Amino acid sequence: MRVLLIGSGGREHALALGLAADPSVDFLAAAPGNPGIAQVAELHEVKATDPAAVAALAVELAADLVVVGPEAPLVAGVADAVRAKGIACFGPSAAAAQLEGSKAFAKDVMAAAGVPTAGSYACTTADEVARALDELGSPYVVKNDGLAAGKGVVVTEDREVAERHAADCGTVVIEQYLSGPEVSLFVVTDGTAAVPLMPAQDFKRLADGDEGPNTGGMGAYAPLDWAPDDLVDRVLRETVEPTLAEMRRRGTPFAGLLYVGLALTPDGPKVIEFNARFGDPETQVVLALLETPLGGLLNAAATGTLAELPPLRWREGAAITVVVASKNYPATPRTGDVIEGAEVPGVIHAGTARRDDGALISAGGRVLSVTAVGGDLREARDAAYALVDGIRLDGAQYRTDIALGAVEKRI
Ligand code: AMP
Ligand code: GLY
Repeated sequence: MRVLLIGSGGREHALALGLAADPSVDFLAAAPGNPGIAQVAELHEVKATDPAAVAALAVELAADLVVVGPEAPLVAGVADAVRAKGIACFGPSAAAAQLEGSKAFAKDVMAAAGVPTAGSYACTTADEVARALDELGSPYVVKNDGLAAGKGVVVTEDREVAERHAADCGTVVIEQYLSGPEVSLFVVTDGTAAVPLMPAQDFKRLADGDEGPNTGGMGAYAPLDWAPDDLVDRVLRETVEPTLAEMRRRGTPFAGLLYVGLALTPDGPKVIEFNARFGDPETQVVLALLETPLGGLLNAAATGTLAELPPLRWREGAAITVVVASKNYPATPRTGDVIEGAEVPGVIHAGTARRDDGALISAGGRVLSVTAVGGDLREARDAAYALVDGIRLDGAQYRTDIALGAVEKRI
């Protein structure tokens, strides 16, 4: 099978490693890729959000399968353009990717499907915003309706901050605050059959102790020993199956990766958000534990044959990833710093680039995603932080408490 992977972050490097390790994948290309992905794939230049350009590249490479990593190309219609050329694509259509592309759309689908989630109002005027904030109370949760690369959500007890964010966004969704630990559950689906991956936990805040601003994600681990035994079955039954059925009913089936972001509230798991693609950095740990060949799994979802796939196989043990971010991330990340010690197994590249003289340099906010597997979470944690200690990047920021609460049984 010839595979083309679209994207250039840590998630895509993890996907590339999984695809390259699948014996059924005999050719792997990536566009635009990064220096880590270049170790296992042939890189091509392409504007990932240009559907015609991606489809043309897939034809030129005689790809059998295109795997789209990030949300922006999906929302732009890249999967539709690839499929229009008769090539299988892992990733939802533009219409189905609206589950991530519009928070108001996602809420509408959830309401129609009876999915447990926070009560909410979609608002466009200051009056509507004020009424919703009054009704739902503090802490206020204000979400930009559209894609905002992890910066669209404000959770605050400060009414003025909530109102200012709403005014900055235009259309917002204001919702009830959900309390409880957060879990990311990834579900591979062909629109009908749904195969859950292992639940993982992400750390969204920049600093230790969940302090500081929200980020794209500063680390993750799996499995979640503390989660209820029936969590995955319950979320499949209450959330995933009704959502997939509602999307089919609307004539826009969702096929690809449905990312269910959950809060485990005292009233049970409730949806915080849907995404239409693998989460970053949770993918780095989930795929580190997946033994089933990745290309076959994604191809089955892309070709409507997921129901025929044998059950997934998982490695024993645990995995953790620690994100190393650049100076001043997330506000104004500094790029162009030289990175040393990063070209070793386990160090997944996110925002890196190769300078003309061959040096590896930082090229984004989240630079590396340092990933390790161990017999248990403590071993995996020690191994990942030992790898982090070997990395030199001026101004680097990383959390020292990824998975610490789980190791110390404090969740
Ligand atoms: P999102 O972009 O929707 O994932 O939101 C980013 C983060 O904001 C989530 O990971 C949560 O920590 C927080 N958040 C979003 N919605 C809620 C909510 N309804 N209640 C509490 N926290 C929330
Ligand atoms: N880790 C959060 C996300 O990918 O949206």
